[in-house]
Amino acid sequence: MKTIAVVNSKGGCGKTTSAINLAACLGWRGSSVVLVDLDPQGHATLGVSMQCWNDFGLYEVFANRAEINDVIIPDVVAGIDLIPATRKLADAEALLADWPREKELALKLGCLSREYDYAIIDCPPNLGLLTVNALLAADEVLVPVEMSLFGVDSANRLTKLIHELEERHDTQIPFRILPTMVDSRTRLARSFLRQIWERYPDEILPLMVHYTVRVREAVCKGLPIIDYASSSQVATDYRHLAAEMATPEKEAVPPVTSIAVVAEERQLDPALAFQ
Ligand SMILES: Nc1ncnc2c1ncn2[C@@H]1O[C@H](COP(=O)(O)OP(=O)(O)OP(=O)(O)O)[C@@H](O)[C@H]1O
Ligand SMILES: [Mg+2]
Repeated sequence: MKTIAVVNSKGGCGKTTSAINLAACLGWRGSSVVLVDLDPQGHATLGVSMQCWNDFGLYEVFANRAEINDVIIPDVVAGIDLIPATRKLADAEALLADWPREKELALKLGCLSREYDYAIIDCPPNLGLLTVNALLAADEVLVPVEMSLFGVDSANRLTKLIHELEERHDTQIPFRILPTMVDSRTRLARSFLRQIWERYPDEILPLMVHYTVRVREAVCKGLPIIDYASSSQVATDYRHLAAEMATPEKEAVPPVTSIAVVAEERQLDPALAFQ
């Protein structure tokens, strides 16, 4: 199982949208996926039309009152199971702080390693213990960054934390940067894209998620974008993301051609080559 944590302390930068749609697109490619809602706001749970406020969820798993297998809701979207956030998850930070337990999520998800191809973790908008647990459980971290100064600043803070955790735990935490909600017609968006490209040349993905109202419409329907508007630009964006994040040996579908490589070959400005 490959575990991908979707992380950024900046609120509203597209973490939940990216987690749901990445999970849906990996499912669409034929993989088995579990979506883990690690945010007490429960938006990933809500975004796939579920509300589990009073049921058992991750808090009970952390508190050893339930097994992780027992809180999974099967088939919330084709090919996707869900570990929901419940009201109690807000107390998990305090629970984890008692020991402290930074690798508890990695331990719990380890029980599912033979059952799924992918676990996608949607994180809360902070760098607290839940997020630290997600970072230490992840084989790869996906960092959605919206095109604003605050968005770029939060990505920088996160990468600092990643490097601290790598040192403290003597491990590697690879991360990929995903530009989100990009209106590539604006000069400002292109300027932020260029800044991110220059700062993270090895980590930035050769794709971006465009800004469109279709995403909000899909959320209202409780559907991933590939089910709500399968031929839209943003559905294509998330299919490309799934192709980039997929583990090659697990999948028959080849990854899409890297826009970065194309840009280099044609000697284009990378920020423009995203489009
Ligand atoms: N590509 C997009 N185009 C337009 N709107 C988008 C796009 N992606 C996300 N949104 C909208 O932006 C808002 C914030 O997105 P989302 O909830 O995914 O962010 P988040 O980082 O998970 O937020 P939080 O930090 O609160 O968890 C939502 O209303 C969502 O529908
Ligand atoms: Mg969210």
